[in-house]
This record gives sequence, structure tokens and C-alpha cells, in this order.
Amino acid sequence: MNERATLLRHGLVVDGSGEPAYAGDLLLIGDTIAAMGPDALDQRPAGLSADDIRVVDCSGLVVAPGFIDAHTHDDAIVLDAPEMTPKLSQGVTTVVTGNCGLSVVPYVTDDPPGALALLGHSFRYPSMADYVRAVHEARPALNVAPLIGHTALRHACMADIARPATEPELDAMCALLDRCLAEGALGLSSGLFYAEAMPAPASEVTALARVVARHRGVYATHLRTEMAGILDAMHEAGDTAYAAGVPLIISHHKCAGPANWGRTHETLPLIDRLAERQSIAMDVYPYVAGSTVLREDLVDGVIDVLVCWSAPHPGATGRMLADIAADWGVSQREACLRLKPGGACYFQMHEDDVRRVLAHPRSMVGSDGLPHDRHPHPRLWGAFPRVLARYWRDERLFTLEQAVHKMSGLTARQFRLPDRGELRPGWRADVVVFDPERVQDLATYERPLQRSAGIERVYVNGQLALISSHASCRARAGRVLVREGPRPG
Ligand code: ZN
Ligand code: CU
Repeated sequence: MNERATLLRHGLVVDGSGEPAYAGDLLLIGDTIAAMGPDALDQRPAGLSADDIRVVDCSGLVVAPGFIDAHTHDDAIVLDAPEMTPKLSQGVTTVVTGNCGLSVVPYVTDDPPGALALLGHSFRYPSMADYVRAVHEARPALNVAPLIGHTALRHACMADIARPATEPELDAMCALLDRCLAEGALGLSSGLFYAEAMPAPASEVTALARVVARHRGVYATHLRTEMAGILDAMHEAGDTAYAAGVPLIISHHKCAGPANWGRTHETLPLIDRLAERQSIAMDVYPYVAGSTVLREDLVDGVIDVLVCWSAPHPGATGRMLADIAADWGVSQREACLRLKPGGACYFQMHEDDVRRVLAHPRSMVGSDGLPHDRHPHPRLWGAFPRVLARYWRDERLFTLEQAVHKMSGLTARQFRLPDRGELRPGWRADVVVFDPERVQDLATYERPLQRSAGIERVYVNGQLALISSHASCRARAGRVLVREGPRPG
């Protein structure tokens, strides 16, 4: 069912650069955008007859670069469920994996401890080359751009992770990271918020980030805290990246907890200030609830908490923690302790902060969806259409061009992905066609496993991967993406 050539005709082209949209055609040949503009068909190479080209009428529809999910935990799901319906059905054509310090490379275990359990159970890849091979064999429907997690490196190289790495351990981590980067990893992520990485001093992360700099990679971080101490945590991240000479991406930027609501008035100006000396960006998901493992320190008795899974109490899935605590006649913290290990949604943000981060020119969209949760946060299935439906069409928080830029061109540039994220002749043909009037996220906290409406067609590397009238994925043409620029050594 390979498509040799496709003409997307009469669409509104939003090219991902942030520049104004225009009416026009797009000619895809093989995996490449061959031509654009009103005369795209005439620019076809000699030898390709008009009969060889499948023509798709895109009147009334937007033609945009396939969305890049800047923040995912899809490392294992791209192998286990390669159709990737939750993402493909949002128009996503590339997922950045390995965020928050958590990656399935290079730690091998049958029993992933702590937050690593968010990634499922496929910890079988001692090297990036092994993982790249596994992705090739699985043939996922979309592209995979993998980061290496600091926490995974710690598990792989340290005898005891409850302390800073010793010098020999740090040397081993640097050597392992160096090899992973040489074999195609995009950069490093950290999750200093998590217990397994919290004991690491900034110097440990800086040493690793220096290895990343040698490969022209990036550094993404889930800050040490997103609550009272957030400014200090941002300075730490800024200094780490600056000292090492790597671009910084602050993960899922938020001000968490009612005591911190409104503080994006402090954090966003700090990002602007840091931007004067270094490359910095952030990702954000368009919801007021976060989601991670069950942790009693995140249960304050004030914010709502929705249980996403619980190993000892599977029946608690999809219920509010307050109701469970009331049934059991205990405090919410006590109920949380009894439900662990598990996961939850924490309604810990203020809508005004979410809006301000989304509207900031340095923010890009990342779902942070957790594909292994039984009752996941709705961001897993809905983040990208929600940005279009709620924050562009309904609220006009930004223009359509800016919305698309935050979901494609900006992300490709920040993660140093060459020839993706914008529609340009000669670039790779990752394309989404959507209906700007009908696009809508349908996943909710109550019913999170819902496909969005209005995403009409998705092309990955020139192949038709999804069409709205068909339930299942068509071509699976995803690849592992590599960094731009010269590879060292
Ligand atoms: Zn995180
Ligand atoms: Cu994350």
C-alpha cells in the first residue's frame, strides 16, 4: 500500500515556521516534500505522470507539518503497540522519548524500580544501538527521537542511588552516555524531582551535560521542584546547561500547588532573562492537572487527586482519592500510602498559569502522556487537538500559525531535528491535514481513551498513516530520528 506520490490540493498551508498561512498545494514524492505552491503539480519530475499521483482535495482543511510531541514516555509503547493510535490520531508524527530522566536505555531489569515503572516493563536495551534495532523491527507508525535518562544511567552504573555518584561511577555514566549519543540518542534528560535522582548534585548532571555538548545534543529537565523552590530549581537547570554549553529545555513547565499559583509571573520573566545568555525553551501540556506516580508528598488534602492505577487496589482506578479515603475512614495521605505503587492525576495548576505558559513564545507542546496507565490523564489522547480547539479556536490565545509552530517548527528547532517540523521543499514529508472548525479533543478525565475529532489525514515519511474514516492505522513508516550536524569522531 505504499504511496509513491500524493498531491494535497487546495488546502490552507500552515507551514510550521509561524509565518502567515496561504492557500496552496503540497506534492509529496517518496518520503519528501517535492514541491509546494499553486503550481506544485507542474514541478513534478519528468517521468512521473499525473496518473501516478494520488490527488486529495483539502478544500476547507489545514495542511500542516505533522506534530512533534516534545515530551513523551513512549519509549516502550512504540515497540509494544506500534500503531501508536493515541498519538497518530492527534496528528502527531514524531515523539521525543526518554523524558524526566526515565528511558528504557541503558538499564536492563525485569523489575523497574520507582518512577521507571511509568515506562512499563521493557528494560532490555543495554545500548542505544539495541533500542534503535528494536524500533526498526517494530516499525512504529511514527518517528521516535530518543533522549537518555539520567535516572536510567544512575541505575545502570551505581551500586547505591541514594547518594551522589562517586568519581568512578560518574566516569562510567559519562562513558555510557557518550556511547548512547554516538549511537543516535538526541540528548540527556533528568528528573531531579524523583527520589532516584534527587541525591544527585548539580555537578553530577553538569558532567553528563558536558558529554552531551560534545555531540551537539540537548538537555531536558524535570526540575528538582515545581513548587515553592521553583526559581532556585530553574537557576540550577540554567547554570547546569550554561556551564556545559548545551541548549536547555524545561519540561512540562508549571507552578504546582495552590501556594504557587500565579508565580508564572516570576518564572516566565526568569526564562526570558536566561535566554539572553543561553538557548532555553520549555514544553507544556494544556491541562490544569499533572500526572505521575502516587506520592504522598503531592497529596495536600486541598487539591483533587484522581487515581490512574494502583497495584494493590486495582478497583481504585478512575476514582477520586478523597472518596476512597472517605470509604476507608482514613486521611487522603494514608489512602495514598495504601494504594502505592500506583499513579494519579493531581489537579495542581491554575488555568491562568497554564494559559500564560502556553502563550509564551518559548513554549512548545508536549503531552507528557503515560501510555501504560490503566486510566490515563486525558493528555495522552487529547493534548494537541485541545491546543487547537480550546486555546486557538475558542479562546484565541494565539494565532493558528503560532499554535502549529509550537507543535512542530519550534520543537524541531529546539531538539535539533533536521528537515522536519516545517513544510519546505526537500524536507521530510510528515504532514497532518485537519479541519479547523471541527478539530476537538474528546478525551476527558472520566473517559480518557477517546480519539479526537477533525484530524483527517496523517502522513509519516510520505506514507498515509491515518485517515479519519478508518479506525486503524495504515502504513507504519516511522523511523528513529538523528540529530542534525556533524557526528563527532
Ligand atoms: Zn516529568
Ligand atoms: Cu514526563
